Amino acid sequence: MPHYDLIIKGGTVVTASDTTQCDVGIRDGVIATLGIDLGEADRVIDATGKLVMPGGIDSHVHIAQPSGEGIVMADDFESATRSAAFGGNTTIMPFCLQENGKGLREAVTAYHGLADGNCYTDVSFHLILSDPTEQVLGQELPALVEDGYTSFKVFMTYEGLKLDDKEILDVMATARETGALVMVHAENYDAIRFMTERLERAGKTAPLYHGKSRPIVVEREATHRAISLAELVDVPVMIVHVSNREAMEEIRRAQSRGLKVYGETCPQYLVLTEQDMDGLNMEGAKYVCSPPPRDKESQVACWEGIQTGVFSVFSSDHCPFRYDDPEGKLIPKGRTSFRWVPNGIPGVQTRLPILFSEGVSKGRITLNEFVALSATNHAKTYGLYPRKGSIAVGADADIAIWDPERKVTITEALTRDGADYTPYEGMEVTGWPVITILRGAVVIDEETLVGGKGYGKHLSRDRSPLAAPR
Ligand code: URP
Ligand code: ZN
Ligand code: ZN
Repeated sequence: MPHYDLIIKGGTVVTASDTTQCDVGIRDGVIATLGIDLGEADRVIDATGKLVMPGGIDSHVHIAQPSGEGIVMADDFESATRSAAFGGNTTIMPFCLQENGKGLREAVTAYHGLADGNCYTDVSFHLILSDPTEQVLGQELPALVEDGYTSFKVFMTYEGLKLDDKEILDVMATARETGALVMVHAENYDAIRFMTERLERAGKTAPLYHGKSRPIVVEREATHRAISLAELVDVPVMIVHVSNREAMEEIRRAQSRGLKVYGETCPQYLVLTEQDMDGLNMEGAKYVCSPPPRDKESQVACWEGIQTGVFSVFSSDHCPFRYDDPEGKLIPKGRTSFRWVPNGIPGVQTRLPILFSEGVSKGRITLNEFVALSATNHAKTYGLYPRKGSIAVGADADIAIWDPERKVTITEALTRDGADYTPYEGMEVTGWPVITILRGAVVIDEETLVGGKGYGKHLSRDRSPLAAPR
């Protein structure tokens, strides 16, 4: 009889395509056998009544990212990956930001310095291009793509990050030549500046007006433009953090025209609304992110985008700042307008429980769709498949065991990131990840962190199969 390091016994194994009653035999960090009566193991986990699913892959998180003068992100790699593991994730994909006037390679080196040896989950970096000079596009970027940093994000808004259309076209052309995948933050910078100035002149400076300064049309226009620019260059594009029907319809229309346009949405667009930013005093700042949460109809639209496949990935856009902190959401006195509130909310731990509860438990999506949205499609989109994102012989043994019946109330005390609040405080969910396993090693064992810091490592990726062929 073969011997295993670990057997997961008696559970229901769910992948993006199948649901099977079988045991999982793990040896040397990979899935060795799927079957029954597998024999002996150093450890056997009884998963009777539980779901055995691929560990979550969150392809959109921000960790320790430079965020402007006096502002500090709440997570380092230790706290972010710990929180991710508690949320049933085994790989997360943070953004490595090129600072203006600096090179991309030095940003990557510095980011490795922060991550290496500090992670509980695997990580893999996307790049953010803020200064696409000839040197960056001609030399650094192609070399980094060769080295396995095969996706990068561009911004159509934010001071210091925003690229103009010509720059975006140059970046897209480089993506086409190198076979990298471009991700776009689609909001119109000038329109937001215009709205912000008008609101401020009218004394409308509370967090609620963050949403008013970047209404749906601002996102729809930029989404349309990003797709048009990608069409011009003939390059695939991923529109990230889509918040509403009009932007979703732009993507759907492009897809139905045969363009390689992909979409991502996030929990905040399914369960939060603009009204959340209308709290007493500065409480609304806890929900300030971009694009902002919209209205109930937008939530319905985002579900429709999920159910019809317009959105292929569901990510957290985890971007945590502490609330009760002048380096976070409670900006120093003198900076009295919403425009100074750092954009972003925590969510790497709550992404999957919210999708499971609102999606699977409420009958909006199937278990297999849950797996596709939470892991498999991320791996396929970003060049990690089939090593990651599935339960298959030969794949890394990255597994989350879920109790589909467990009812949990989300609270700040439960979330293990570096923020001092959760935007989902008090939300009841049905379904919870109880054990997280990374490459065969148990990281979270029933509410307890047992994994070793530093076991998580950086993954170089293949080119995305969705990117332009070379
Ligand atoms: O408000 C957000 N989403 N902050 C994170 C940065 C980004 O645009 O993804
Ligand atoms: Zn963004
Ligand atoms: Zn983001």
